Amino acid sequence: MTVPPATRMVQADAEGVAGAVRCLAAGGLVAFPTETVYGLGADATDGEAVARLYEAKGRPAFNPLIAHVADAGAAQTLARFNADAQRLAEAFWPGPLTLVLPKAAGCPVADLATAGLDSIAVRVPHHAVAQAILTAFGRPVVAPSANRSGHVSPTRAAHVLADLRGCIDLIVDGGPTRVGVESTIIGCLGEPTLLRPGGLPREAIEQALGRRLAESLSAPASESDAPLAPGMLASHYAPRTRLRRDARHVEAGEALLAFGPKLAEGSKGAARVLNLSPRSDLIEAAANLFSHLRALDAAGANAIAVMPIPHDGLGEAINDRLARAAAPRGT
Ligand code: TXA
Ligand code: MG
Repeated sequence: MTVPPATRMVQADAEGVAGAVRCLAAGGLVAFPTETVYGLGADATDGEAVARLYEAKGRPAFNPLIAHVADAGAAQTLARFNADAQRLAEAFWPGPLTLVLPKAAGCPVADLATAGLDSIAVRVPHHAVAQAILTAFGRPVVAPSANRSGHVSPTRAAHVLADLRGCIDLIVDGGPTRVGVESTIIGCLGEPTLLRPGGLPREAIEQALGRRLAESLSAPASESDAPLAPGMLASHYAPRTRLRRDARHVEAGEALLAFGPKLAEGSKGAARVLNLSPRSDLIEAAANLFSHLRALDAAGANAIAVMPIPHDGLGEAINDRLARAAAPRGT
């Protein structure tokens, strides 16, 4: 038995970044901000560090991780880029886009991190703190969202602390994250395929490619053994409180997750009301999604009634997250 680490929280200044790099090099677990959500980082080339990461998250072992690097050049040492992947990397990196690509020969990432697959998910984040850590570390960093498996993704350092205190070594506090939902994942193994909607809207990707994206064969709600993106398992992003979607009125004992200027009927009697975006802005709504869900989950309500949210732009990712949060719990 190893002694559980005492989790330290540091500011994202030069000293904090240097501490994060030392900790990663020593095989430690470091939570740090990206523009999407906070990631829980480990040295991707260190299989034991990756194993500790799975343990800390309580994550099912079949769920492969994203390798984060500082730039497209570093990504080329991990994966093979076809013309579509090249075009997407040029258009959107650094940014909230992850590409699933064939692993390069000699890819140094530990097999455990890719769950034994021949493919690897690669991302170049834009956030200045993530960039500083990756550049100084000089090796790929695997970083799933820094929450306990099955909980919502953290958009603030305090969320990470609440979920992972005593399970990880260090949290680098860089303030709230800008995008608020995870990166969009595109498979570039054949026809470019949308594996997970996220912070980069599908429309922008299709415009850069000059054609439509294929849909993932593993339906978002399926619980098959080896889905292309196991993060799509229906119970992945789940608050404890039941979610009731597309609610036009609030029942007794419910909390309300609102959207837009006009609250649902009965909101005066709600246990608690939080609005994703009073001005109906989907970008603002995405940035608020996980912290509002967390706050309402803590309100002791019978259920969380969620008002209808449009499906265009970032609405696709928001509705996808809400659908999973509303799905019956897996095991
Ligand atoms: O925005 C993000 O992407 C955040 C930040 C921290 O970068 N990270 C994140 O990681 O959301 P995680 O582990 O929570 O989600 C990674 C997703 C999972 O659904 C996983 O199954 C999928 O990526 N994935 C990883 N490798 C894959 C592969 N080779 N093929 C298909 N899906 C893969
Ligand atoms: Mg996650």
